[in-house]
Amino acid sequence: MSGRDAPAVSALLLRGVVKRFGSLTAVDGLDLEVPQGVVLGLLGPNGAGKSTTMRMLTAQSLADGGQIRVLGHEIPAESKWARARMGVVPQHDNLDEELTVEQNLLMFTYLYRVPRRRRAEAVARAMRLAQLDGRGGARVDSLSGGMRRRLLIVRALLHRPELVLMDEPTVGLDPQVRQDLWSLISALRDEGVTVLMSTHYIEEAERLSDEVALMARGRIVERGSPTDLVAKYAGAPWRSTCPARRAWAGSNASSTSRGSPPAAPERPCPCCAPRSCRTRCAGSSANPCAGRATWRTCSSP
Ligand SMILES: Nc1ncnc2c1ncn2[C@@H]1O[C@H](COP(=O)(O)OP(=O)(O)O)[C@@H](O)[C@H]1O
Ligand SMILES: [Mg+2]
Repeated sequence: MSGRDAPAVSALLLRGVVKRFGSLTAVDGLDLEVPQGVVLGLLGPNGAGKSTTMRMLTAQSLADGGQIRVLGHEIPAESKWARARMGVVPQHDNLDEELTVEQNLLMFTYLYRVPRRRRAEAVARAMRLAQLDGRGGARVDSLSGGMRRRLLIVRALLHRPELVLMDEPTVGLDPQVRQDLWSLISALRDEGVTVLMSTHYIEEAERLSDEVALMARGRIVERGSPTDLVAKYAGAPWRSTCPARRAWAGSNASSTSRGSPPAAPERPCPCCAPRSCRTRCAGSSANPCAGRATWRTCSSP
């Protein structure tokens, strides 16, 4: 299914979602809608609230406010039904190290309620996808980091989910292994699976996503096509109070594929353009530089 003929029910719908940890508001009135068949990259620096959001989508963590629907199911009330239709790749590897590759996968065919007659086929397909054919009998603690990560991803695909949540799927991996995982994620995209993938690698978001949402301080501060966002934010100044620029810069900072931020260019301040950004720029009640300022002269951020 392509994004063009996406059905009316959104894969993900979050409205005003809030999550607090004591005095810290990790997710702060988050609004996000992802149509079916879209790969959305959730890009933001550490601490932006990406993992907390992912955990609320699976009801591992309960929201303090707002509404969440996953494939039309209300969360948390109908999370059992939503979970049956989605696969989850957690940020931290939680494979059972003492079990073999095959045993890890088989265990999840039970959890995902894959019918008995399809279990062997589902495990074989997963091992093929993860390029682990012939390694079914190997204990997980004997695998390389890249193999483990591939196994973690295909484990989430055993029941052919319509929606896959991936929390920083390639963090800490070397470039070659990351390329392998990108192929795996691209294949999902080609099959029309909806993917929400958090990342702080800009290159990854650019390469794999149909759309990118920039997250900062528990909110989406900007959203658009990867090309548009790169055009708009690449080259943004390093220090800024604009949440969209900070999210971009923070992500950029963590990327191994890019170096240090380039110097501020002389061009119209994009801070004046996006509403989400304009309303939150420190000191700007309206639009102080009215699009005329350059990065160097904009007094708003
Ligand atoms: N269980 C928790 N208890 C207290 N604070 C938490 C907990 N989980 C996350 N946080 C805090 O919430 C904020 C958002 O965290 P997280 O969602 O993990 O961000 P991200 O995944 O974008 O790096 C951070 O400040 C983090 O320290
Ligand atoms: Mg995280």
